[in-house]
Amino acid sequence: MDFELTSEQKLIRDTARDLAKREIAPRAAQIDKTHEFPRQIFARLGEMGLLGILVPETWGGAGMDALSYVLAMEEIARACASTAVVMSVQSSLVEAPILAAGTDAQRARYLPDLAAGRKIGCFALSEPEAGSDAKALRTRATRAGASAGDGWILNGTKNFITNAPVADLAIVFASTDPTQRSRGISAFLVPTDAPGLKIGPPDDKLGIRGAPSAQIFLSDCAVAADARLGPEGDGFKIALRALDGGRIGIAAQALGIARAAFEDATNYARERKTFGQAISEHQAIQFKLADMRTEIDAARLLLWRAAVKKDSGQAYATEASMAKLFASEVANRAAKEAVQIFGGYGYLADFPAERHFRDAKITEIYEGTSEIQRLVIASALLKD
Ligand code: CAA
Repeated sequence: MDFELTSEQKLIRDTARDLAKREIAPRAAQIDKTHEFPRQIFARLGEMGLLGILVPETWGGAGMDALSYVLAMEEIARACASTAVVMSVQSSLVEAPILAAGTDAQRARYLPDLAAGRKIGCFALSEPEAGSDAKALRTRATRAGASAGDGWILNGTKNFITNAPVADLAIVFASTDPTQRSRGISAFLVPTDAPGLKIGPPDDKLGIRGAPSAQIFLSDCAVAADARLGPEGDGFKIALRALDGGRIGIAAQALGIARAAFEDATNYARERKTFGQAISEHQAIQFKLADMRTEIDAARLLLWRAAVKKDSGQAYATEASMAKLFASEVANRAAKEAVQIFGGYGYLADFPAERHFRDAKITEIYEGTSEIQRLVIASALLKD
């Protein structure tokens, strides 16, 4: 077992760390306050190759591995959790399924622009009454005519769709045959300017306020026959495979938030004095910092294991769920302790601890709640 990163992996981590420190961290509080999508930062991520880490060079990406992706994601999330999830959706939930299930024509049409940040994508699976139970979705895709070349008509409503308010492209999951349940779901590449597609107002959220999300309304939205991604009936598997990779990305986001909470709290503890000494000299604070740091390292090890398994071509869904489950819970514990260490200042928006506290919560919810991760893990272990 070798924990040493390659020189390419160190380079991408250091590139992301440098960009995060210089250009993202100084703007994170303002992005949160104004709910402003970090468009300029998104463009910089594209320029630096950080939006196409997993996309092969043939399709305009950096052609790197999943471990490189999580290293970069942790650094970006340490600076700004909103920016990290925008990057994660673009990479794991939009580029990866196009790469995995798309035709060469679809890859050529979308991947170079997505990898360079010229286009933004979103992943439209969840619905008002289909979140954890994703296969209960009701959006319908019906053939526009009798022949296979006639295209599709989409009708339905999608919910909580990250990036939707700024997206150029949506991967829409819709049922082409409701009698087949999950095997009747298909995926479609839908430009957001397609007639019949409307984006609702941005959601007003507890955290990750710079990562806009909204409903998508499809009302007789017509798409061409070549908009279907993968074979008819393969949509649910395409979605779940994308989410396996997505969960690695969210685990890395959670890890970055945990690190932000820990590092900010440690710095504060060194400066803040009570009873005549820095609070970092009090055992009560030292124990908190020691627990935070230990859990962060444990989360990182689970995350790296999942990424390395993915890179080696082995099944990694269970490891991805474990990493996401643990890292998201670590982020929430670390953020809570950081608020406590900051004391009264931890409760004020002028200090970063309360932003980390609000940003951490979503990592236990999206891309599969902690309860869904436990179901995935339990169903795998009971099969063994
Ligand atoms: N990869 C590929 N296929 C998979 C799979 C996987 N990881 N897991 C299951 N499948 C297949 C099964 O093999 C089965 O195929 P067959 O019919 O051919 O046998 C099919 O999918 C159905 O499987 P199940 O009956 O086990 O499905 P289920 O409905 O009982 O449960 C679930 C699956 C794990 C609960 C799944 O529904 C799930 O993960 N739910 C959570 C959904 C989720 O994560 N949503 C996130 C929304 S996107 C988001 O959050 C983005 C954002 O904003 C940032």
